[in-house]
Amino acid sequence: MANLLSTVFFGLLNKDQFVQGIQQAINQISGGPDKGIYAGDNLFTYHRNLSFLEDQALMKAYAAHAKTPVEQAILWRISTVLWGVRNGLRLEGDFVECACYKGTTVRMICDAVNFSEQADRHYYLYDLFEHDPSMAHHAMPEHGAELYAAVKERFSDCPNVTVTQGRVPDVLADVAPNKIAFMHLDLNNAEAEIGALEVLFDRMVPGAVLVLDDYGWMAYRPQKLAEDPWFEKRGYRVLELPTGQGLVIK
Ligand SMILES: C[S@@+](CC[C@H](N)C(=O)[O-])C[C@H]1O[C@@H](n2cnc3c(N)ncnc32)[C@H](O)[C@@H]1O
Repeated sequence: MANLLSTVFFGLLNKDQFVQGIQQAINQISGGPDKGIYAGDNLFTYHRNLSFLEDQALMKAYAAHAKTPVEQAILWRISTVLWGVRNGLRLEGDFVECACYKGTTVRMICDAVNFSEQADRHYYLYDLFEHDPSMAHHAMPEHGAELYAAVKERFSDCPNVTVTQGRVPDVLADVAPNKIAFMHLDLNNAEAEIGALEVLFDRMVPGAVLVLDDYGWMAYRPQKLAEDPWFEKRGYRVLELPTGQGLVIK
């Protein structure tokens, strides 16, 4: 596969017309069938190497676990997370995702790096799992009383993955690593992300990668507006990636 073609785009007025426009644009791109096109997740590129499509470990995990159109459309984002995790495996410390929802991203990562065989490494996943309408994040389709157990079951073959139900940052007082080699924040919630950073950023080891899933998305602009001054105070700047993610190297 040297193209990724999805019709998952967010924030459209008329999806059919938008997709027709993308198709017309694709028709005007020179070259054979492999045009290096990534269409989806509000990205449209062509004549790109899209190196992650040649990453056999990632593509095997993606085929096994990316089941919904959104999960399939966000491969570029997942490849960023995988890059950060692989970097973390060269460092000391554990791995963190706040929050994991169904656990799909980390499931792919665990497969791609054989995480269950990294006996001295631990992956900590957090989520509320049930939607709380008093909180700033939006409900997602699989939120509910069954989700926590389902995610624990999804990682039952990985004894070094700990799934914790609770509100970030409060729950971090009960369960959290002391040294962090990689962290992924994906809370759709500025206050919770700043709370997580307050507790966990100092625990990231030098060279550890932090991925902020929502940083570049206009719909989540309050997160960027809260995070920019937070990082500036500490001498860091966030790199906004074309995927909509933000990237910081400790
Ligand atoms: C976009 S989803 C995470 C997707 C996941 N990272 C993935 O890649 O598959 C966002 C999740 O954040 C969780 N969430 C939002 N605020 C939270 C908080 N304060 N504490 C714990 N979880 C929270 C929601 O329950 C939701 O499941």
